[in-house]
Amino acid sequence: MTQPIPTVAVIVGSLANGTNRKFAGAIAKLAAGRLDFRFVEIGDLPLYNYELEADFPAAAARLKAAVESADAVLFVTPEYLRSIPAALKNAIEWGARPWGKNSWEGKPASIVGATPGAIGTAVAQTELRAILSHLGAALHTRPEVYFQVKPETYGDDGAFADAGALHLLNTWIDSFATWIARLSQPAILARAS
Ligand SMILES: Cc1cc2nc3c(=O)[nH]c(=O)nc-3n(C[C@H](O)[C@H](O)[C@H](O)COP(=O)(O)O)c2cc1C
Repeated sequence: MTQPIPTVAVIVGSLANGTNRKFAGAIAKLAAGRLDFRFVEIGDLPLYNYELEADFPAAAARLKAAVESADAVLFVTPEYLRSIPAALKNAIEWGARPWGKNSWEGKPASIVGATPGAIGTAVAQTELRAILSHLGAALHTRPEVYFQVKPETYGDDGAFADAGALHLLNTWIDSFATWIARLSQPAILARAS
């Protein structure tokens, strides 16, 4: 039986059409046939306030449905001020609520990030790992992808052109796909039958 391709809800931590959206697009291209990426927008979410939960915002409900229906979640995030962007924290707060309906619980999840800077989003990723661990996500942790974008990273078509980048991201894709399969086998197989 052919193994179905796992679906991955992709959340880009930056609202800009910048470094991390481009990085996520290149990973999606490279992962085609191994992981099925579905981008989830977070820019239309209101700022989290528990008083809004009684009339749960449609954008937040959409985020939760996208996460819950995917086999896994991928966070592609920049580092802002040695932490994660406020927009990403806001999305995670909405996903965690209402109380008892935490959409991140048990969800296979991985984190990558890109920057022109030298430390490659490592500080932000460490903070994000702590938050997702608190929320009970099933974190995929290796290989770590602290990606420094260089002039040779991409070709004109936006795909990875650099051998080092291709090796790292191919290894990461295979490892994340194995992680998802290990945790989600029953759900994926049930869908195929
Ligand atoms: C508000 C702000 C804070 C930043 N703080 C950091 C930082 O703490 N560490 C870092 O490596 N880069 C930092 N940067 C630089 C970002 O890595 C760089 O702008 C990157 O391209 C942002 O990714 P994005 O285009 O996907 O948003 C910061 C950028 C902004 C706009």
